[in-house]
Amino acid sequence: MVYQVYPRSFKDSDSNGVGDLRGITSQLDYIRSLGVDVVWINPVYRSPNDDNGYDISDYRAIMSEMGSMADFDALLQGLHQRGIKLIMDLVVNHSSDEHRWFQQSRSSRDNPYRDYYHWWPVERGPPPKRWSFFDEEGSAWRYDSTTRAYYLHYFSRKQPDLNWENPRLRREVYAIMRFWLDKGVDGFRLDVIPFISKDTTFPPLPDEYGGDYVAYYAKGPRLHQYLREMNREVLSKYDLMTVGEGGGVSVDDALKFVAEDRQELQTFFQFEVVDRWGRRPGNFLYSDSSNRSLPALKGIFTKWDSVFATSGWGTVFLGNHDQSRMVSRYGNDTPPYRKVSSKMLHTLLLTMRATPYIYNGDEIGMANIRFTDIGDYRDLMTINYYNRLEREGGDLQEFLAAQAEVSRDNGRTPMQWTADTNAGFTRGPPWIRINPDYRTVNVAAAERDTSSVLHYVRRLIRLRKSEPVLVYGRYRLLDQGNPEVFAFTRSLSGRTLMVALSFSQAGGRTGLPAGYSAGKILISNLGRSPVRGAQLVLQPYQAVVLELKRK
Ligand code: NOJ
Repeated sequence: MVYQVYPRSFKDSDSNGVGDLRGITSQLDYIRSLGVDVVWINPVYRSPNDDNGYDISDYRAIMSEMGSMADFDALLQGLHQRGIKLIMDLVVNHSSDEHRWFQQSRSSRDNPYRDYYHWWPVERGPPPKRWSFFDEEGSAWRYDSTTRAYYLHYFSRKQPDLNWENPRLRREVYAIMRFWLDKGVDGFRLDVIPFISKDTTFPPLPDEYGGDYVAYYAKGPRLHQYLREMNREVLSKYDLMTVGEGGGVSVDDALKFVAEDRQELQTFFQFEVVDRWGRRPGNFLYSDSSNRSLPALKGIFTKWDSVFATSGWGTVFLGNHDQSRMVSRYGNDTPPYRKVSSKMLHTLLLTMRATPYIYNGDEIGMANIRFTDIGDYRDLMTINYYNRLEREGGDLQEFLAAQAEVSRDNGRTPMQWTADTNAGFTRGPPWIRINPDYRTVNVAAAERDTSSVLHYVRRLIRLRKSEPVLVYGRYRLLDQGNPEVFAFTRSLSGRTLMVALSFSQAGGRTGLPAGYSAGKILISNLGRSPVRGAQLVLQPYQAVVLELKRK
């Protein structure tokens, strides 16, 4: 089980308003108390922070706001002393434009670092259209007058794409990986990894992709060759864990990344669930509350489970630093339902056949802040798109209303530790506003309240650890068309457990599978048993895991 820490927002030790490494180290006993096995931290390398550390200017140094290398070593040691592993974010599709390589590369056309990036000389005419995910003007090509050429940046203009075609660049990346592994880190989360290989002839965008560029930009012709090389040169030489950020990876090509005999990665995140639920098809910067079909969600989870039934291994997550808060999106964050629906969602995460990821703050049921003023946002994705709309005369109010639901900053507000000033996160002015609900939603209050989400999550984690059937057992979906209840069984060595989850304020009903009767309830987020003979009658957002007995 992995706990994701967003360092900028976890805990500030030096009162500058930004979370840091010593802050994380000060909370290691809390992290251990959850019972997780692994911590993943977002980038803490030196960075001008155009994209909160996903723009790295020195891969072997620590960002000044985060502390020093000695602080990093202390964090790693503190985790290892507690039997917890640490995985780092590896961001190698792009660097910062302030990285020495890029400074060299842009300085002249014959600089030895020129081919570390993708350049399109002006005399070839305008470069073929490529869209940027973050750029204010939308284009992924940025003109640089020093050498009269455009460079490629799929993300912001301060995140130039690295040229993986160049073997020297690849060797540099492998050396960076060894540097951190030799320090003792236990693996990597590989940022936008399917993007590293591109068709560098840059053909015109084929019409069939419509607006869905991810599918086209990612998975270039030499992707698997590079991943195998990375595995041979680095990964295979260490005892480690890898999880790729698999944007654009579909069920059809999933096993190419993770089947054991491929010798590439071990796992990746798939985005079908989070890219769809509550979002507008074709432009996920907009919300669409009608796009929330539980049968469709079940279909996606079930399809992905079957991909890894005999080979490879999956991951499951509903929140991270790029998503709005899990309870606000998939549950119900109004006071009567926040706790119960948050517990229900954790029950899903911890009963699937895949490695669960818990995002910091979700374990206390943190909710969306829902900014209404553009001045409150810190994320370049929101700000740049807003600026673009403003320039083009788009509907700013509609955009702000949508961002209040789906913006990344919803998931990035500081961790709420106490009911004291600034939620106990910092003694300085926080880098982003703190959710005012911290007075009631915070770790200290959750520790005192035996019915809190936090206590429930700890129990769930203990349950999963004590029940191999919840980790390895065969998964079978029940009652697929039920619009209110997600129900499935997990079976291993003659034992069968049933999981039933109400995703509705109206509760819901479902039947036990034929041939079974209900046995002991292993965990539930509400006191009352839902069992009524062969039926389960669930309260709003009720979750239950129960033993099934053969009749
Ligand atoms: C995915 C990261 O999770 C996101 O935060 C970042 O903006 C992009 N990759 C670009 O690195």
